[in-house]
This record gives sequence, C-alpha cells and structure tokens, in this order.
Amino acid sequence: MKKITIAIDGYSSTGKSTVAKQLADHLGYVYVDSGAMYRAVTLYAMQHGIISKDKFDIPELKEALPSIQLKFKKEPHWEKARIYLNGNDVEDEIRNLEVSKFVSPIATIHEVRVKLVAQQQQFGLEKGVVMDGRDIGTVVFPEAELKIFMNASSVERAQRRLKELLDRGDSVTFNEILKNIEERDFIDTTREDSPLRKADDAIEIDNSEMNLEDQFHVALQLAKDRIAGR
Ligand code: DC
Repeated sequence: MKKITIAIDGYSSTGKSTVAKQLADHLGYVYVDSGAMYRAVTLYAMQHGIISKDKFDIPELKEALPSIQLKFKKEPHWEKARIYLNGNDVEDEIRNLEVSKFVSPIATIHEVRVKLVAQQQQFGLEKGVVMDGRDIGTVVFPEAELKIFMNASSVERAQRRLKELLDRGDSVTFNEILKNIEERDFIDTTREDSPLRKADDAIEIDNSEMNLEDQFHVALQLAKDRIAGR
C-alpha cells in the first residue's frame, strides 16, 4: 500500500500527539513528537546553566548545539517512542512545567530550529511517518500528503493538561497552566522563524467538543482518503 507523510500541527495541548500516535499505530507508521525535541534541547540548556530564571544565554546555547544529541527509542512493550538526550531517557522530565515555561523562547532561536528541522526531515525520508508540532506542514514537510491543524479553546486545553500533570503527581494549578498555554500560544504564533500557522492546504479540526474516538475517526478517514489518492 502507498505510504504517505502526515503532518499534524496546532496549538499546545490540543491533543495532537494522541491523534498522531493513534494514527501511526493504526497505519503501522512511525510517530515522531517534534515538540519533545525542542523540550529536550531546553532541558539540556537548563541542566547546563545556560538558561534559568535570570539567565538566557543564546550565544552559549548556539555553541552547545553540536554537543546535543537526540534519539528516539521504541521498545515493543512501550506505548510510544521515548526521547534520549545524549544517551539518557528524558521522556518524563521534559514534560514538567519548568521545561514548558522555557521551551517556547528556546524554539524561537533560528539555529535550534535549523538543527531540529534537519533531523526531522531525515525521519521522513521513507514516508510512513506521522509527525506533530507547529511547523510540520509549513516547513518540515511542506509536501505532506495530509496536513491536519488541530485547535481547541485555551480553557479546554488547560483542563486537559492539568489532569495529565495531576495524574502523574505534579503539583500545579489550573491558572498556572492556563497562563503557560496562553504565553506559549503567543510566542509560538508571533515568532519570526516558522511561526505556528495553519498551512493553506491543512484541514482544521477543532476538538473542543469532540471526544478522542470521534477525533481519531475523522483523522483516520482523511488518512485513508489520501492513501487511496483522493
Ligand atoms: O508540542 P509541545 O507542547 O511539546 O511543544 C513544546 C514547544 O516546542 C512549543 O511551545 C513550541 C515548540 N515547538 C516548535 O516550535 N515547533 C515544533 N515543530 C514543535 C514544538
């Protein structure tokens, strides 16, 4: 069967990764979480004192970029691939609110994007890939056969994110998360390099009022149509 490239972009916490992963599992495709790569670079910068509450040293980060090696690893019994930063599994650590606070400014740095986009394009060379992020349909895979743009209200997104973080034992509040989501939306959509925007040929899904199952079925039907050349 013909393999295609599926690009899923959208605002933070719109459930992009859930749909992307379900699609990849169903189609036997590789799922790549591009946001995890920006988060891992951010974690590196935090761990090496390059960024902190009162420091944001862009030249130091640019210099450190060649020392940052990212890999995804997937074992059959794992639900999804986990990201490794210089050989260490950081999949859980990159999800905390501290990383979320710094990641959008880090993702505005051109040299960071050049490095990560090049690696993302390598993952897509053989097609059969579902990648989610902010610039996948516009910059990473402008020729993707299927582009989906996901959206939901910021309050709905903050509620979902709060549940996720509380379930894993983090101590966070709804207001803190809503503020972070709105700040990230602003930075992601207004940055100069590859701002988040819907590609002209992307199909928008607003899932504020949709359950996961409905959302998956809409996306799967779109994928089947594209695979069949429709
Ligand atoms: O999808 P996420 O929330 O894990 O992404 C974290 C941040 O990384 C997000 O605020 C913006 C940035 N990002 C990006 O600029 N480009 C991508 N393709 C993916 C994420």
